[in-house]
Amino acid sequence: MLVTKAPRGTNDLLPRESDKWHYIEDKARDICRRFSFGEIRTPMFEHTELFLRGVGDTTDVVEKQMYTFDDKGGRSITLRPEGTAGAARAYIEHSLYADTLPAKMYYIIPCFRYEKPQAGRLRQFHQFGVEVFGSAEANVDAEIISLAMSYLEELGLNNLKLAINSIGCPECRKQYNKALEAYFEKHIDALCETCRSRLKRNPLRILDCKSPVCAQIAADAPKLLGHICETCDAHFEQVKSHLSGLGISYTVDPNIVRGLDYYTKTVFEIISNASTLCGGGRYDGLIEELGGPSACGIGFGLGLERLIMAMEQQNVSFGDAPQARLFIANIGEKAAMLADSLVYGLRRAGISCEKDRMNRSLKAQMKYADKMGFAYSVVLGDDEVATNRARLKNMENGETVEIALDELSQALK
Ligand code: HAM
Repeated sequence: MLVTKAPRGTNDLLPRESDKWHYIEDKARDICRRFSFGEIRTPMFEHTELFLRGVGDTTDVVEKQMYTFDDKGGRSITLRPEGTAGAARAYIEHSLYADTLPAKMYYIIPCFRYEKPQAGRLRQFHQFGVEVFGSAEANVDAEIISLAMSYLEELGLNNLKLAINSIGCPECRKQYNKALEAYFEKHIDALCETCRSRLKRNPLRILDCKSPVCAQIAADAPKLLGHICETCDAHFEQVKSHLSGLGISYTVDPNIVRGLDYYTKTVFEIISNASTLCGGGRYDGLIEELGGPSACGIGFGLGLERLIMAMEQQNVSFGDAPQARLFIANIGEKAAMLADSLVYGLRRAGISCEKDRMNRSLKAQMKYADKMGFAYSVVLGDDEVATNRARLKNMENGETVEIALDELSQALK
């Protein structure tokens, strides 16, 4: 095995690319603050049982994609494939339902799924997600959709399509499952092995099978939207009118069922140039399913690698990377010593600055300063050491001013 190559489906984030990530993460934190969401950090791994019960044991994520292993204590552990189950577990464990409701939280986390890697599909990827626990109100559905849409719009993305659907509650699903079973029974011989095994256990999952044959059969299956009960229908109508009230355009897409079992009622996806950037929905039975009190929930997960790809494709700006301020070049030993202490003092005073660390010639030091994009430079030699004064050069226009070295920090603030 080649130890100098990262595992398939994972990416290194190099220092020269990290500003892009900081930019989208800062924007996520900023919008969450404005929408009154606080950050939650849960472990990167959980007991496997949490995902079996939470995400559902007939889903692709659980059946095919989890990184599961026994730890040295013999417990089955899984690297989290998504963020909702962990947040729900923490909501129960810390009795957040007894605090002020709704409980509104967000996370920016790595997730792990054993999938076939391709553009926008990784084995370690990152999600910005939000969850709201404790409210059944349709205006919360609209609130979190509006958060996701505002985030993407504020980043400057175009071509965003919001598609919504309702997949009803377990009661309406019972009736629908019968209709689905009857339909898929007729095509049983053509279905893939996994789908055949899902037919009796959870026919809804056949609808998001990736096999082209199953997908073609699923295209003509009865739609859930035609089978939802009056209460779910009324909720969906309210969500639509709240969205319209906020001026958010959407289309109703009865084919969206989402790949995870916990969803009830509203589900949605935000798509940009054929890539699903964001997916989410309501999960009113999850907390109870995991052993907590009856509590509603809703949230979304937004794939950050896909977001960056979409921003790059659309040539959207990632903001101005913070520019390093000052480079102090030096000639001779005394000047090098002075540069060391000046750099240290300026850094402690809050100014980003650098000096030569490679024992380069003056010419090579200035080439380095140019390449690294410093805003200003000074050159220290014997004269500057003797007089404690130097010329501060603006690297963009080449202008210089003479300055006392102990005034540098003032001048650069
Ligand atoms: P999900 O649809 O499985 O939902 O994932 C959400 C988003 O994560 C996707 O739309 C996509 O952008 C990104 N994503 C998923 N898998 C990969 C992958 N292998 N590589 C790159 N990006 C990926 C959830 O995870 C739910 N927990 C969302 C949610 C939160 N629902 C309610 N609350």
